[in-house]
Amino acid sequence: MKMQLLSAGEYHEKTSYFRNRISPHHLDFDAYPLAFKPYETLEKIKLPTKFPQQDRPLSTLFSSCPGKGRLDITALSHILFLAYGVTAFKHSQSIPVLNRTLPSAGGLYPCHLYVAISGIEGLETGVYYFDPIHFCLGRLHGTYAPRDVDTVCFMVTASFYTSAWKYRERAFRYMLLDTGHLVENLELALGLYDVGHTLFYDFEDRAISDFLQLDPSLEVPLVCVSSGRDRNVSAMGLAKKPGEPADPSSASSCLTDRTRPVQYEILSQIHSLGSIVKQERPFPLPEITEKKGLGSVAVPMETQPMEGGQGFVDSVLLRRSRRNFVQDTLAIRTWSALLNTLFCSLSFDASRPAARALDFLSMGMICQNLEKLDDGCYFFSGNPSKMQLMEKGRFAGAFAGICLNQEWIKAAGINFLFMANLEELEKAFGPRGYRYVMFNAGRIAQRIYLAAQGLGLGCCGVGALYDGEAKALLGLNRTSVLLYAVAAGPIKKTRGHEI
Ligand SMILES: Cc1cc2nc3c(=O)[nH]c(=O)nc-3n(C[C@H](O)[C@H](O)[C@H](O)COP(=O)(O)O)c2cc1C
Repeated sequence: MKMQLLSAGEYHEKTSYFRNRISPHHLDFDAYPLAFKPYETLEKIKLPTKFPQQDRPLSTLFSSCPGKGRLDITALSHILFLAYGVTAFKHSQSIPVLNRTLPSAGGLYPCHLYVAISGIEGLETGVYYFDPIHFCLGRLHGTYAPRDVDTVCFMVTASFYTSAWKYRERAFRYMLLDTGHLVENLELALGLYDVGHTLFYDFEDRAISDFLQLDPSLEVPLVCVSSGRDRNVSAMGLAKKPGEPADPSSASSCLTDRTRPVQYEILSQIHSLGSIVKQERPFPLPEITEKKGLGSVAVPMETQPMEGGQGFVDSVLLRRSRRNFVQDTLAIRTWSALLNTLFCSLSFDASRPAARALDFLSMGMICQNLEKLDDGCYFFSGNPSKMQLMEKGRFAGAFAGICLNQEWIKAAGINFLFMANLEELEKAFGPRGYRYVMFNAGRIAQRIYLAAQGLGLGCCGVGALYDGEAKALLGLNRTSVLLYAVAAGPIKKTRGHEI
């Protein structure tokens, strides 16, 4: 009998890892997913690659409120590059390995970036696919008529197969987290050009899917970011169904030539379950644990840009996942600067449910060797300058075991934790709330990556974990889960460079 998912919590539970119970999975490298969509019949427009030498300190960009900047083709090209570009190509056993401006679970990059353009000189009004590998735009169609003619709308989608190739049923988790990383890079890049914008987690999935001519069994729209003045997604001119036929080469979204995708029914189900945007219902902020803390600790506020700290552009270009942590003491000024990145408010249109869903994402850390701070597990409260010491001691070793025995996690100075009470979340927002917390976790994680890079620290996302064991270690209540972790801290340096 076909299983029908009833909640996002159930999806999370059904895709949990349990020690000694992960079924073996052969990675078929002959069917390795492509990192871009070929769109063979489309006209390709090469993007300019000479960018202005401009940068801004991360700390100011994190807290800035972009304004009246205007996009031209060079700025657009730079923004696309910073958001989702390729910084180096390599090959490993005939598999292309790309260094990109953001991390991705398994290095698979399931997301795609489309842009609907109006009012940019040199680019015809229409909807384009951004091909990050060949650094060009492919024009899908011209049916785009926003109310404000200067609207440029970015749309992030993700392909099931790309991530499921490795992660199978668990892939939707990574598609959402990866989307959060990408959206944050995009936002910061728009901020670099002072381009005001609005983020949409809520829209009619089907309308955007039709607009982009997607095959929804293969690829789904997840977030829209509009630089126009209109605050309403339906005013952005995206909801029209173009009459033109789709390019057949796009339907095979990221598949290698010779394969049809293995499809996991649960992935389409969890996506469709969240397709309805529910009117948010007021709920008190959820608890994630019954445990009482051992006392509250003030987080020093670090408002000055760090001396020698890199700007956004440098950080994005040099960013890598670094796992060679060493157990050096982290100066108070450095760790507080890093923690402050968690508390800089993410930009939203505050009237939207997605903004309020931020309160449903709980954060914490397992830390060691931080100057003037007890080793232990801390949960951050709603008040950005305070955290609760939940338990004193060194837990990084136990945490590494929980993260599928990834030994390098043991030495990380900080393991950031992203948690949520899924039952309460769904009572407030319905199953779509799962997307909100995962996007937000990915967005904050991207900030941690960039801030760590800027501060000369290492950083690496951790999605592989035994879910039940994580819950037990952190003392989470029955309905709460650990969604994602990010390790950060001092790393080994060789000849002035991290390895
Ligand atoms: C959502 C997510 C989960 C990840 N989980 C892990 C993990 O469990 N273990 C690990 O070593 N790296 C993990 N990574 C890091 C990726 O392996 C890394 O980003 C990818 O290989 C690309 O390399 P780069 O970040 O150096 O460019 C994760 C990254 C993301 C975004």
